[in-house]
Amino acid sequence: MNVMSMPAEGGTNSLEQYWMPFTANRDFKASPRLITKSEGMYLWNHQGGKLIDGSSGLFNVAAGHGRKEIADAVYAQMMQNDYTAPFQMNHPSAFDLASKLTHILPDPFNHVFFTNSGSESIDTALKIAMAYHRANGQGHRIRFVSRERAYHGVNMGGVSLSGMVKNRETFPSVMPNIVTIRHTWDPEAVYTKGQAEHGAELADDLQRHCETYGGGTIAAVFVEPVAGSTGTLVPPKGYLQRLREICDKHGILLVFDEVITGFGRLGHPFAADAFDVTPDIITMAKALTNGAIPMGAVAVRDEIYETVTEAAPDDAIEFFHGYTYSGHPAACAAGLATLKIYEDEGLFERAAGLSDYFLDAIWSLKDLGIVKDLRGMGFMAGVELDPIEGKPGIRGNNMQKALFHNGCHVKWTGDTAIVAPSLIAEKSHIDEIVGCIRKTLEEV
Ligand SMILES: Cc1ncc(COP(=O)(O)O)c(C=O)c1O
Repeated sequence: MNVMSMPAEGGTNSLEQYWMPFTANRDFKASPRLITKSEGMYLWNHQGGKLIDGSSGLFNVAAGHGRKEIADAVYAQMMQNDYTAPFQMNHPSAFDLASKLTHILPDPFNHVFFTNSGSESIDTALKIAMAYHRANGQGHRIRFVSRERAYHGVNMGGVSLSGMVKNRETFPSVMPNIVTIRHTWDPEAVYTKGQAEHGAELADDLQRHCETYGGGTIAAVFVEPVAGSTGTLVPPKGYLQRLREICDKHGILLVFDEVITGFGRLGHPFAADAFDVTPDIITMAKALTNGAIPMGAVAVRDEIYETVTEAAPDDAIEFFHGYTYSGHPAACAAGLATLKIYEDEGLFERAAGLSDYFLDAIWSLKDLGIVKDLRGMGFMAGVELDPIEGKPGIRGNNMQKALFHNGCHVKWTGDTAIVAPSLIAEKSHIDEIVGCIRKTLEEV
């Protein structure tokens, strides 16, 4: 497709009609960047240029692009059964996928609710927490705790929990009764690879909220184990453990938002395994289907499922929540095929084995004067640049475009690159991504 031949305005091929998400629409349409093909670690743009994918799409294409096994499974499923109404009836693949997921989830997680995105998973987790406490006679737990710099998607629940100013300042009508604890970025710990030694005490902010509002009024705490969209903030040692202890003390549910960290990103199935901290609820999406079909899920400890379901009469619906596309057959087929690839190819272990190489390559950028901080763990890293004075975020936007033209896709957030290749990456791919970042930074 030749974008330049498209009519500039109007007409069916114009770029104008599509209001693009999280995009500078006017700037993009003046100089479009379209992808027309993807395979393995690579993307091809509309002008035939080849790019390496340094962020595995949006950290979701963990098994690489164009996986035939997934496409075949989806096609077969669609020919067999394209859609089943999921309320009060269902189809076998949804049960199969839920069951396969529980095999890779931590131990007490034997129940899974399906959604269509990370944002829906967050809304679902909020409602599960409310339903659980209500069923337990604790409906007075009306408060939720989130973190500065948190990203929990864009539905109203996620915006209410958001700690990123641009994602919430335009939308003031959010949920009430949300309080925030501090983020874990420490200017004293810049360039720390993995977890910083100090900072666990930041979790005591939660204890302070318990002392201010009463721990018994708090329903749940939401955290990304590694804060992703704000630019990869790895928690300090002991921090998540401390949150767990405070939650236990006050009967508060701990929710790990594993939309990015799930499915091997940290070299383990979930961050809960990587940090050896077991939450009560895990939200996921993204790599669940390798990005091929939209899907999310919320896994809960047995006690949560049992409390909610047993509180209702035998023949009554227990949880008044669900989506037309919860557990869509095509998504389930994609999920099953994806989990099989992860297992057959040992991709989580592969990421663990290559993590040191990946992080060392990222840390090789430290000599560039413009690099203000480097952070990372497993197969995800943040490369934070000094902002253009008075214009935060503009350098990041410019860099994302310059990288695209230099042959590399990397997602930027503000002035920080989030580098997170597919788990199939070879050392040579890592070198190519980091080489392209270096070259582009040297041109700034
Ligand atoms: C931690 C986290 N939660 C939720 C979401 C929202 O997911 P989605 O964009 O699929 O709605 C994201 C997306 O990046 C995320 O990183």
